[in-house]
Amino acid sequence: TGLLAACTPTGAGASLILPTDPRVGEVEALRRTTGHTRRYRFTAQAAQVDLGGPVVRTWAYDGSVPGKEIRVRAGDVVQAELSNLLPVDTTIHWHGPALRNDMDGVPSLTQEPVPPGGSFTYRFIANTPGTHWLHPHSGTQLDRGLYAAVIVEDPEDPGGYDHDWTVVLDDWIDDTGTTPDEVLGGLRRGDGGRGSMHGMGGGTALGGDVRYPYHLINGRVPAAPVVFTARPRQRARVRLVNAASDTAFRVALGSHRLRVTHSDGFAVQPVDTDALLIGMGERYDIVVTLEEGVFPLVALAEGKDATALAMVRTGEGTPPPSSIRPAELIGDLLRYDDLRPVGETPPLGVPPDVEHRLDLTGGMMSYDWGINGLPFDPVRRLPIREGQRVRITFRNRSMMWHPMHLHGHTFRLGGTGLRKDTVIVLPGRTVACDLTADNPGQWMIHCHNTYHHETGMATILGYR
Ligand code: C2O
Ligand code: CU
Repeated sequence: TGLLAACTPTGAGASLILPTDPRVGEVEALRRTTGHTRRYRFTAQAAQVDLGGPVVRTWAYDGSVPGKEIRVRAGDVVQAELSNLLPVDTTIHWHGPALRNDMDGVPSLTQEPVPPGGSFTYRFIANTPGTHWLHPHSGTQLDRGLYAAVIVEDPEDPGGYDHDWTVVLDDWIDDTGTTPDEVLGGLRRGDGGRGSMHGMGGGTALGGDVRYPYHLINGRVPAAPVVFTARPRQRARVRLVNAASDTAFRVALGSHRLRVTHSDGFAVQPVDTDALLIGMGERYDIVVTLEEGVFPLVALAEGKDATALAMVRTGEGTPPPSSIRPAELIGDLLRYDDLRPVGETPPLGVPPDVEHRLDLTGGMMSYDWGINGLPFDPVRRLPIREGQRVRITFRNRSMMWHPMHLHGHTFRLGGTGLRKDTVIVLPGRTVACDLTADNPGQWMIHCHNTYHHETGMATILGYR
């Protein structure tokens, strides 16, 4: 049972779903569209999946991890039919594209949950270009392997690359029949489910709560990595998505610098770095100019002493060992402050019309994550009005880090004005996020650590 489902009173008339706000359709009617409809089907089902050695029983879309990628042009209409063959309710949430609220896929908030045996068709204009993704929004389902990349191509993309590769990162729990729900039970009891919890790890305080047996790139363990092939001196755009539930990754490509071009789908002034950190829910696009040889694309699970691996091959050479740690991992590390948005002026310092202060609270011991000391309550909503300039100020009062995500909007970070939809808030830090209330509806704000979200670090931004 998911958090929202658990909180939703049962019985006739108890739904917390508001009637669709007429402004939802009006706002969508203003979105530019190509008029093309792209049709997809997703079947959420139990499946046996080969991770490149380990064969696991899990839940996946159409039996594959990741699920098949959606790739459309900005302005296309996405029509996706979800069939639920799971034994529990589910939905699909579209993480990243600004879309109409009634297609946002939050069960018991923006739609009725899709019951076992049921189906639901999502249909919306996808006009936010960028690297996005989709996943369920119930309980710990995401940590079973239900996720897929959603690429919205930009018609104004200047190009300048020969390849366009999607790299989806994940932490994988389900090797011995332990389910994410059992792990969650263990975290609540204080034994970590698999018997080992972490404090803050790594030099960046980005450790996690759960130890995973595997870390995956595009559904493969490091012993049998995905191989991307190209020719020397070609340029590859690499779209990184962190679909993990409890793992930040430090990403580097052996013998290469990474040119960072987009953060959460939005263009930034290009910056070169050796490595970058990506929290759960975040995306980065990078461009690399390829040397000749065979190179490891490594994602180090921060604080967990484990890696995910893919390979880039442009010529002869010996494949790197699956445990390789290229020197770039400890080279320059990208910071948010290095990134400047393209085509936007910095925040003007004008006071917002409304500010909501969200203290991130709770701890590992009692596993009582919340906001302002309270667990999620779907009745409680942070009020805003259409057209307002809204500031959400996250203050992390806990000892763990939290990747905070807002649905349906993007925000600009105080300072640089970097535009994002998911932002890492380190322990003790305060992050101000400014947005314009331009997408009416009821929208989740939550930590993208599946276990923090599920135990209560979530709230709702509600248009009046
Ligand atoms: Cu990717 Cu509410 O989540
Ligand atoms: Cu969290």
